[in-house]
Amino acid sequence: RAAPGTAGPFTPTAPLTTSPHATGAVTFPDGFLWGTATAAFQIEGASTEGGREDSVWDAFCRIPGAVKNGDDGSVADDHYHRYREDVALMRRLNLDTYRFSTSWARVVPDGKTVNTEGLDFYSRLVDELLGADILPWLTLYHWDLPQALEDLGGWPQRDTAARFVDYAVTMHEALGDRVKVWTTLNEPWCSAFLGYTSGAHAPGRKSPQDGLAAAHHLMLAHGGAVQALRERDPEAVLGLTLNFTVSDPVDPTDPADVDAARRDDGMFNRIFLDPILRGAYPQDILDDVAHLGFSDVVRDGDLDVISTPIDVLGVNYYNGGAVSARPQGTDGDATPDGTADPGGARETTEGAPVWETRSPNPVPDGIYHHSRGLPTTDMGWEVQPEGLTRLLTRLQRDYTGPRGTSLYVTENGAAYPDVVQPDGSVDDQDRLAFIDAHLRAIRDAIDAGADVRGYFAWSLMDNFEWALGYSKRFGLVHVDYETQERTVKASGLWYAGVAGTGVVPA
Ligand code: NOJ
Repeated sequence: RAAPGTAGPFTPTAPLTTSPHATGAVTFPDGFLWGTATAAFQIEGASTEGGREDSVWDAFCRIPGAVKNGDDGSVADDHYHRYREDVALMRRLNLDTYRFSTSWARVVPDGKTVNTEGLDFYSRLVDELLGADILPWLTLYHWDLPQALEDLGGWPQRDTAARFVDYAVTMHEALGDRVKVWTTLNEPWCSAFLGYTSGAHAPGRKSPQDGLAAAHHLMLAHGGAVQALRERDPEAVLGLTLNFTVSDPVDPTDPADVDAARRDDGMFNRIFLDPILRGAYPQDILDDVAHLGFSDVVRDGDLDVISTPIDVLGVNYYNGGAVSARPQGTDGDATPDGTADPGGARETTEGAPVWETRSPNPVPDGIYHHSRGLPTTDMGWEVQPEGLTRLLTRLQRDYTGPRGTSLYVTENGAAYPDVVQPDGSVDDQDRLAFIDAHLRAIRDAIDAGADVRGYFAWSLMDNFEWALGYSKRFGLVHVDYETQERTVKASGLWYAGVAGTGVVPA
């Protein structure tokens, strides 16, 4: 094994300083898909209707203190009842495609018996989308495991992967005649490590071993579902969506910081990328987690299933991180200002001072994210568009390009504290500028050879932001939670222009 810091394919790259598309109008290739994304639990509501039963998120919301302001998903955006209105909104935004997820707890409420009423909802939604000429981009799992399966052990339990394959086949039997794009998982890093290691997300367990086992079984579920769907439907477009960071050592000349960046990159990016796209776990990460008994979880043949070829890799990018082996402020730096950590603890840092926030990965010790003083969003995440250019070109070079897998940015966007004007409008120039800058960064990556074929803004509309409840707004469309009134924000009107023309205006 190579020396720490140089193991595996991780090599830190310097931030980009120039963007050929930083100004002026930017034209995207013909056929580039423009979309928005949502997830079932974040928008549907109707949590006890139509035969739906608890998911882990329903149960988690009942734990006092687990979710900000005690918010839950019982009503959310009431999309279950308002999906027609919401599809009409998508038309106004000129969307080519809509990325949504189906709720396993609605379709298989007890973890084994199919609920046709649940399937019918998604069938109606798909018909509505097709009627509006919008391509349905279906995600099977966006974090809402049926509580019945958590009661049987959840993702650390190998059998959950087999249950997921059954659920995938059920969905395909119902919708495969009309849905052509299937994403197995959304951000398994969050399901595994926020759900089972840091406990910041449902089901709220806190075990490094459970997080690792969950990660492996999620990937097994993904590969098994890809095999099953491919066999049923050779024409289907299959893939998964991962969340990525760009790990920059705070001091690139300090071997300890470089090694921290290597581990950060390893536990966020490569622990999923390498098994899925290269058929093997990165050796440096296996070494790092060897003391946690991970090798007992991985069985012969698993990696063949996990690396079943996919057509599409979905890329969710919000920001990167400046990574150090030492907490910020411990080596004579100025005291951090209390804004949230931009990296590893991205979903968990509300209210926590920077030096207390560490990566929730199973091997967090010695991985600290420092503030670089870049502008931040309402999540406390640094705005770092050039990181997306570097990420996409790296994915193309090291992972997707050699396999002929195409890239889609399946989430990107920003929470800002929107101000609603007396006439109901929201002039969110900050969000508009965020998306504008990231689209320019994608164009740079395409110029550099990355096969990026579409972009989904997160999110269509304001919604339930997990442990932060309704306090953070990511929508292109504002939602008044008292009245459920939807109002397209300035960013949404602007995005409609981009989606309609394929051009980011000057
Ligand atoms: C990623 C997740 O997929 C989505 O559910 C979440 O709302 C956004 N990031 C913003 O945090």
